[in-house]
Amino acid sequence: MHGMGDVHPTEVRVRFLERLAQIVPSPLSKAFLATTGSEAIEAAMKTAALATGKPSFASFSGAYHGLSVGALALCGIERFREPFDGMLPVRPLLLGFPRSSTPLDDALAATRAALGARRDLAALFVEPIQARGGMIVPPFGYLRGLRTICDELGILLVFDEIYTGFGRTGEWFACLYEGVEPDILCLGKAAGGGFPISAMVASDSVMDAWPISEGEALHTSTYLGNPMGCAAALATIEEIERLGLCARAKRLGEDIAPMLDSIARLDSVVEVRGRGMMWGIELHDGVAAARAVKIGLRSGLILLQTGVRGEVISLTPPLVIGEEELERALSLLRDLLAAS
Ligand SMILES: Cc1ncc(COP(=O)(O)O)c(C=O)c1O
Repeated sequence: MHGMGDVHPTEVRVRFLERLAQIVPSPLSKAFLATTGSEAIEAAMKTAALATGKPSFASFSGAYHGLSVGALALCGIERFREPFDGMLPVRPLLLGFPRSSTPLDDALAATRAALGARRDLAALFVEPIQARGGMIVPPFGYLRGLRTICDELGILLVFDEIYTGFGRTGEWFACLYEGVEPDILCLGKAAGGGFPISAMVASDSVMDAWPISEGEALHTSTYLGNPMGCAAALATIEEIERLGLCARAKRLGEDIAPMLDSIARLDSVVEVRGRGMMWGIELHDGVAAARAVKIGLRSGLILLQTGVRGEVISLTPPLVIGEEELERALSLLRDLLAAS
């Protein structure tokens, strides 16, 4: 069950890393493994700081990158950071996260102006679809624009795909929709099919900022690359491929569009947005969303409340969900939202 990952790698760890390199965008070739998403983010922060020699970061309002102290410092949801603000190591430059309805040029101009005013930024952290912030999809082209801006300004671009990765949005990673390659990619959550494992993957040039370990590693952790976690992640990749789950998530996302449209037309609903098997239903406030989650559970629906004000219900069904089951779940949800 255990092998000291950084000192004596097990064979399964090597096999997982080789397989992982095949599914991430091609320039990403070297990884740090970890256990939780937050740790992958912390590793990305340290890597970016080492690679650039700069101490600060940019992220987005509404962003969620985990709650360990480093990751919390990037958080754009005030209720998580406010009680700990005094002890957080850095205050990020918080940018506005554009919605799909925001004109792309306006969104990019605002981002360029804010980033361009700073010289101390090591990296920009972004979720390709903001998850805990309320399932917010940016305008198409925004991620590509971020790539251009970051290249111009010498800022590393970090995609946090801990939520969106491993097929959730209909591709292995959501950044593949725009064909954009980050300097660093963070993944976790579904990577182990329910077993805790996460990773931060970067290009050679970024990762080579770390010195070769001679004895004690500069960054490590007891369970880094845990053999059981690596075996689970390897099996997860094989199963996602064998069952064609990325394509299935995309197709199911398209199939349920009419049903989601009918939900979007209800008086109790402000907006429905998402992609693949990742959707958010925005209600008028957090009280309505909390009530819907509670009533949903009584009807057999496991929903989660999300959004900066808790005003969104998130739908993230398993990628193997049966089609009838998915339809039934959505019709139960529509009924309960229509009655509220
Ligand atoms: C986008 C994103 N990043 C990071 C995290 C943190 O992951 P973990 O809870 O495994 O530390 C989460 C968890 O919800 C997340 O959604």
